[in-house]
Amino acid sequence: MQNNNQNIKSEVRKTKEAILNQNAKVIWFTGLSGAGKTTISVLLEQKLLKQGFICNVIDGDIIRHKLNKDLGFSENDRLENIRRIAEISKMFLETGVITINAFVSPTEKIRNVAKEIIGENDFLEIFINSSIEVCENRDVKGLYKKAREGKISDFTGITSPYENPKNPFLEVRTDILSIEQSVEIIIKNILPLIKKD
Ligand code: ADX
Repeated sequence: MQNNNQNIKSEVRKTKEAILNQNAKVIWFTGLSGAGKTTISVLLEQKLLKQGFICNVIDGDIIRHKLNKDLGFSENDRLENIRRIAEISKMFLETGVITINAFVSPTEKIRNVAKEIIGENDFLEIFINSSIEVCENRDVKGLYKKAREGKISDFTGITSPYENPKNPFLEVRTDILSIEQSVEIIIKNILPLIKKD
């Protein structure tokens, strides 16, 4: 159940946002492995920093080797992965920092857990949409090949589901657009929300 208080900013957060001269948000990228979430996150962070916004990327590939190295890719482990990340994102939010999250976060249920923790007003779900064919053809990390060979289990898009977001804040087609174009569209859409009036 949505707690309405989640959407009311604390005084301490307002003070921190005023110091940083920005409105904090969690920019939540979801999409298949290889869709471009990490690349987009890093470029978005660079561009926002250049414009004077304080932001921070939290990326699935890094988190899974450190904070969440005890977790695998079963549905429950993915849920726990996202729950922890959402709690951390919430802390950044309360500090006034814009957080850019790059996680497969494959199901509606998992993304709803994140949205509930973060609060609907601050959770900007962006669907980084590239077809499974394009992701598999690129296969930057060689994981699709391994999944097809049965060397990796529960692989998103192959042996584990990916549910497209039903009503994302934004959808970016990375199989059609360049990374630069994708980041420009994202900035254009989030700028009015993160800029202080
Ligand atoms: S999530 O589903 O729990 O959100 P997360 O984003 O943290 O996933 O991690 C996904 C990354 O882990 C992928 O980009 C990929 O590099 C790697 N990975 C390794 N095994 C799997 C798997 N079975 N399914 C998906 N990604 C995997």
